[in-house]
Amino acid sequence: MSEPVRLERRGAIAVVVIDRADRMNALSVAAVRAIGEIGRTLSGDSGVRACVLTGAGDKAFCAGADLKERKGMSQDDVRELLGLYRSEFAWLASSEFPTVAALNGVALGGGLELALCCDLRFAAPHALLALPETGLGIIPGAGGTQRLPRLIGEARAIELILTQRRLSADEALALGLVNRITPQGESCLESTLTNLIPIAEGAPIAQRAALLAIRAASRMTLEHGLDFERDLYGTCLQSTDREEALAAFAEKRKPVFQGR
Ligand code: COA
Repeated sequence: MSEPVRLERRGAIAVVVIDRADRMNALSVAAVRAIGEIGRTLSGDSGVRACVLTGAGDKAFCAGADLKERKGMSQDDVRELLGLYRSEFAWLASSEFPTVAALNGVALGGGLELALCCDLRFAAPHALLALPETGLGIIPGAGGTQRLPRLIGEARAIELILTQRRLSADEALALGLVNRITPQGESCLESTLTNLIPIAEGAPIAQRAALLAIRAASRMTLEHGLDFERDLYGTCLQSTDREEALAAFAEKRKPVFQGR
């Protein structure tokens, strides 16, 4: 049987593709486990500067839980799967590199929740986003009730989850649910990769420090956050890359960063 999720490398950027186009890239148990396994592989690879998660084809990023597989599952099976979502998707929000969902089509239910685990979301113009779970007699179970209000506010999250409304890419952009819409007629993945060039070519120590500081901001008091920022700045100050950036500026050339 073919792998439900593929890992590719595009230079310093890892590309993770949910490869189940015949089921709109729905999340089978095997796909959830594969995403976790890929995260463990990438965490040991210091050459990765960013990771893009996308779906095969141009119709779906991911249509959420595999409803055909779910039909045959017991309540205990589903409880176990909820634990798996948490453990296997956690790396997307805690990796040393930024994670980006390239929404190349529908992102529904667990598919949108998976995208919400990522740091950034870029959407194709035809992408549709929704959390339809309450219409199926359940609630979002892969972090949606927690991550969506943190991102777009409580009232908007209540509206989206209780009405199950499908958002166009434009509406999602207006809500801050996606960062940008990729150009019409261009591959969502390719355009996303182009947007990530400054990250791939940036100073690794500074990139990591900034990511760590920003991710921590919402769970710290301002005073603690400012201390944390000062400490992380300290690691950048000691880096050779900082000296290289100053030398490159003086010599009117592009810096060559080495992550030291
Ligand atoms: N799980 C398993 N299979 C799924 C799926 C899912 N979540 N979503 C789509 N598929 C399958 C369909 O059953 C269909 O398979 P078939 O050809 O064997 O019948 C195939 O993918 C194509 O889907 P189809 O519905 O024909 O395409 P569409 O373009 O008309 O609609 C969707 C696409 C995604 C809008 C629609 O399939 C849908 O609403 N899916 C359910 C999404 C959902 O509610 N997810 C949340 C779960 S909590």
